[in-house]
Amino acid sequence: TRRITVRDIALAKERGEKWPMLTAYDAMTASVFDEAGIPVMLVGDSAGNCHLGYESTVPVTLDQMTMLSAAVVRGTSRALIVADLPFGSYQEGPVQALRSATRLIKDAGAGAVKLEGGERSYEQIRLLVEAGIPVMAHIGLTPQSVNAMGYRVQGRGEEAAAQLLRDAKAVQDAGAFAVVLELVPAELAAEVTRSLHIPTVGIGAGAETDAQVLVWTDMLGLTPGRVPKFVKKYADLREVMGNAAKAFAEDVVGGTFPLEEHSVH
Ligand code: KIV
Ligand code: NA
Repeated sequence: TRRITVRDIALAKERGEKWPMLTAYDAMTASVFDEAGIPVMLVGDSAGNCHLGYESTVPVTLDQMTMLSAAVVRGTSRALIVADLPFGSYQEGPVQALRSATRLIKDAGAGAVKLEGGERSYEQIRLLVEAGIPVMAHIGLTPQSVNAMGYRVQGRGEEAAAQLLRDAKAVQDAGAFAVVLELVPAELAAEVTRSLHIPTVGIGAGAETDAQVLVWTDMLGLTPGRVPKFVKKYADLREVMGNAAKAFAEDVVGGTFPLEEHSVH
């Protein structure tokens, strides 16, 4: 079996087929999703919050993204692996973006990169695409800008909606193969999806986008505390893992683990 490519992604839109994307930050989790048939995996800089213990994605470094992306590539054989360019690794301009993306493609083995921003990231996307690096764009709520925009719904109101449409057109014109729409009204996401020939990947963007992405620790119930309204929880791993840890602790303290069957002589 060969890996999914951006060509397959383009064909899916032509055929009107929807597809799922999940984040992954390590080889073992990625191998589970790969075996489950998830066609596209995102090594998101949400690793900052969900894997590395930071409060936002802002502190995540290119070295960290390279290490995590390489692990996800090693754990998979079929999925297209998209690696996030972290904050500070592409904002200086197209040349910096190319240097950073090259590490994720060449050192980590990712099949594509993702970066945030619409019109403001046009030149970066264009140079990467010219260099042969597939780019997934990301507009609407862009968490790397949390210090400027907070975590609020984007594209509400006529002006903001028009800007989101311009951003979507800009990343398509620049050559992006897909675009993430994060936390935008469902009606607007539907309009963007209809007006683009590249697929839209929604998160908190309603049901009409071409694809859907969720952060894996959210959808599997591992993230502590409250998760956003747009998350559907498909399992409660936090409870499963917590109970297992407690059972192990009780066995050790009570002397019921290990048993004869776990011992060698
Ligand atoms: O880092 C991430 O997980 C993302 C998705 C939310 C799209 O960018
Ligand atoms: Na991200």
